[in-house]
Amino acid sequence: MNILIVGAGGREHALAWKISRSPLLSKLFIAPGNGGTALLGSNVAILDDDIDGLTAFARDNRIDLVVAGPELPLVLGLKEALDAVGIPCFGPCAFAAQLEGSKAFAKTMMRETGVPTADFQVFESYDSALEYVRAHPLPMVIKADGLAAGKGVVIAQTMAEAEGALKDMMLDRVFGEAGLTVVVEEALVGEEASFLAFCDGSTVVPMPSLQDHKRIGDNDTGLNTGGMGAYSPAPVLPEDRYVAMADLAISPITTHLAAIGQPFKGVLYAGLMMTEKGPMILEYNVRFGDPECQPLMARLKSDLVEIMLACVHGTLDPAKVVFHTETSCCVVMAAKGYPQSYPKGMIIEGIDEAEKIEGVNVFQAGTQLQDGRTVSSGGRVLGVTALGSDLGQARARAYEAVQRISFDNSYYRTDIAVKGLRRTQ
Ligand code: AMP
Ligand code: GLY
Repeated sequence: MNILIVGAGGREHALAWKISRSPLLSKLFIAPGNGGTALLGSNVAILDDDIDGLTAFARDNRIDLVVAGPELPLVLGLKEALDAVGIPCFGPCAFAAQLEGSKAFAKTMMRETGVPTADFQVFESYDSALEYVRAHPLPMVIKADGLAAGKGVVIAQTMAEAEGALKDMMLDRVFGEAGLTVVVEEALVGEEASFLAFCDGSTVVPMPSLQDHKRIGDNDTGLNTGGMGAYSPAPVLPEDRYVAMADLAISPITTHLAAIGQPFKGVLYAGLMMTEKGPMILEYNVRFGDPECQPLMARLKSDLVEIMLACVHGTLDPAKVVFHTETSCCVVMAAKGYPQSYPKGMIIEGIDEAEKIEGVNVFQAGTQLQDGRTVSSGGRVLGVTALGSDLGQARARAYEAVQRISFDNSYYRTDIAVKGLRRTQ
């Protein structure tokens, strides 16, 4: 079958790598793709928000399955547009995609379905929000309702920060429409974990747990990023708790969505805070995480295309979703300056040498192929991913591979998976 992957990051290279190993695949296209996906299929110059362009391409090129990498096309209705031309889409409908597209929608559904989450209130009026903020204890968390490229969350330690965040979002509209509604919520304390599940509308199959590293600096310091590294499993959420976690964080939502005629088909990702009082759900994503997808694809033993088709057709079988027992670890190499401004166009050397290390795959993110050379084109450049018999070995291999790769102005965190190692030693 012919498959079109939508997106351009490390997640999409990892998906393309796994899909390219499926015996079901004939032709693979990636829109718009990157330097890594260009080696596995044909990149197509259509952006992820161009729903008409993607749909027309899928129709004209006899695509049998479209795989949505990022959330934006799903929120914009990619699935509905493909439905109209009879092409299956791996990823939820626009209604269900609001779980990620609107924090007020997600929090309200969590409250309605009994999913544990931080206490919160939704505001559309600046004056009411300000009054509420002034009457509640610090720290508190202020979130722009809509998609804000990971920048719409402020953990305010002082009243000035809280008031500033409200003003930025609601009056000065720094996130445009996305900040006109805000969610104000209680700040939680604990270790974070990522928990993803395949969903076919009724059956939920958990994937191994992970931990992401959102801040740019070692020891979780500095600005928030898309994610600087991830490993799986995360000892903070061990395997014997996956079923209970799916019952707590995923099934209430998928059951509710099925009951209201909006079945969730795709990957539902719960961002968790493991607090003293038990796990709390911070947010939902309606797709694989980036970089979480990279360590997950390294561990997935089953055919991803078969799983995706089963999700789309409502025939997901837990026995057919099998992961290797090995541990995986992904270290993101970024361009110095990310997540703010950073240089582009650096020539990347050493990927082949890095991949000679047993268990190592280098997934490319912000890269392009130019005259046969791999050149950086984004902030997160590579996701250097390794399998190992335990976390120590996976981490050591990933960092050994990082040492073999070079480009000007490269930057990476040196403490990926350290929290997990502490828990296992
Ligand atoms: P979100 O986009 O909702 O996941 O928020 C981004 C990041 O902000 C999370 O990964 C957490 O690190 C942090 N965060 C979000 N909500 C809370 C909360 N209620 N308490 C503490 N930290 C939070
Ligand atoms: N790495 C976090 C995310 O994909 O949302």
